[in-house]
Amino acid sequence: MLYYYFVFIDRYSKMKEKLTFLGIETSCDETAASVIREKNDGTGEILSNVVSSQVEEHKEFGGVVPEIAARAHVEKIDFIVNKAIKDSNIKLDKLNGIAATAGPGLIVCLTVGLNFGKAIAGSLNKPFVAVNHLEGHALSPKINKTINFPYLLLLISGGHTQFLEVNDVGKYKRLGTTIDDALGEAFDKTAKLLGIEFPGGPIIEQWAKKGDEKYFKLPKPIINKGGCNLSFAGLKTAVLRTSKQLTNEKEKYHLAASFQKTINEILYQKTGVAMEQFLKNKKDKKNIFVIAGGVASNLSIRKNLIKLSGEKNFFPIFPPVNLCSDNAAMIAWAGIERYRKNLIDNLKFASKPRWPLDISAPFLKGSGLKL
Ligand code: KG4
Ligand code: ZN
Repeated sequence: MLYYYFVFIDRYSKMKEKLTFLGIETSCDETAASVIREKNDGTGEILSNVVSSQVEEHKEFGGVVPEIAARAHVEKIDFIVNKAIKDSNIKLDKLNGIAATAGPGLIVCLTVGLNFGKAIAGSLNKPFVAVNHLEGHALSPKINKTINFPYLLLLISGGHTQFLEVNDVGKYKRLGTTIDDALGEAFDKTAKLLGIEFPGGPIIEQWAKKGDEKYFKLPKPIINKGGCNLSFAGLKTAVLRTSKQLTNEKEKYHLAASFQKTINEILYQKTGVAMEQFLKNKKDKKNIFVIAGGVASNLSIRKNLIKLSGEKNFFPIFPPVNLCSDNAAMIAWAGIERYRKNLIDNLKFASKPRWPLDISAPFLKGSGLKL
């Protein structure tokens, strides 16, 4: 009896203890590390958040070159993780666990952060949590806001574009996805055609402000079919064709503006469909709509989705801009949330370059599947 009492007390004190986790992220072209501590209200305090971007390394190639990215991670990881620990003022032995991104992403890049995280966890004899990068994005709004499950998530980044029903930690239902390019990719490719260096998404947003959004009429692929799946390849081809016919500099701004307007119309329509699907048969749901990923920094897209949310009776939530783009705070946080559910991993956990959040969802991207 006394034994069970002590087990209960031990579990109870662990539940009450505020967890502090180190997170490491190297899935693509950002080498990042962060330390987060839980707060009494259930949100997180970011004690450090170090991100080293490789934009300069990849600029001349117009995209991320895996070998260059991996080499940069190897060169920087030691410094970045040490800086995150130093900035946090937390002693290593006070960490409750270490989380590292294990996928999806470039295998040569993932391996660097994952192995580094496993090595720290192993040497300190601390729990290790392998985090899905997409789950990091999905849970990121909970770092500084109390949000209850379930909620609808639109993830729009350089590598992913998905509508997900976030039902709990580790429990996701994909409602729709892109069948070709990711939205950030579409922005970056349009930018490249207009002579803007990689990653051009943020510059397209700036140029769009100086142009006439009605100047060019661009296509909206699968706008009225395929549920809330999306497609941007046809739009990209139309941008390519139009970019070859420009007659003056001002038309570049018009094309950027017309492209962004078309994206907004596509998102407006498809998000409306996703919202209806999310609410179907689930009358008790609170209508929370989270928008995450690098493209969620775009203010015009924010405004568009805030307007739609008002019309559809959803409450929109955007993580702060520094938590929208790739970072390790979201990985540390996902580590804490998974640890709370006893989802702890083995140090043998191997990187998973392809790792869908909803494993039951069909693989659509690049499949050429007809909708
Ligand atoms: O989430 P993220 O930092 O990295 C990935 O996981 O991909 O997203 C980066 C993407 C890039 O394609 C970048 O061009 C795009 O987000 N992006 C933007 C804006 N800021 C970043 N696209 C449009 N407008 C922006 N303001
Ligand atoms: Zn990302």
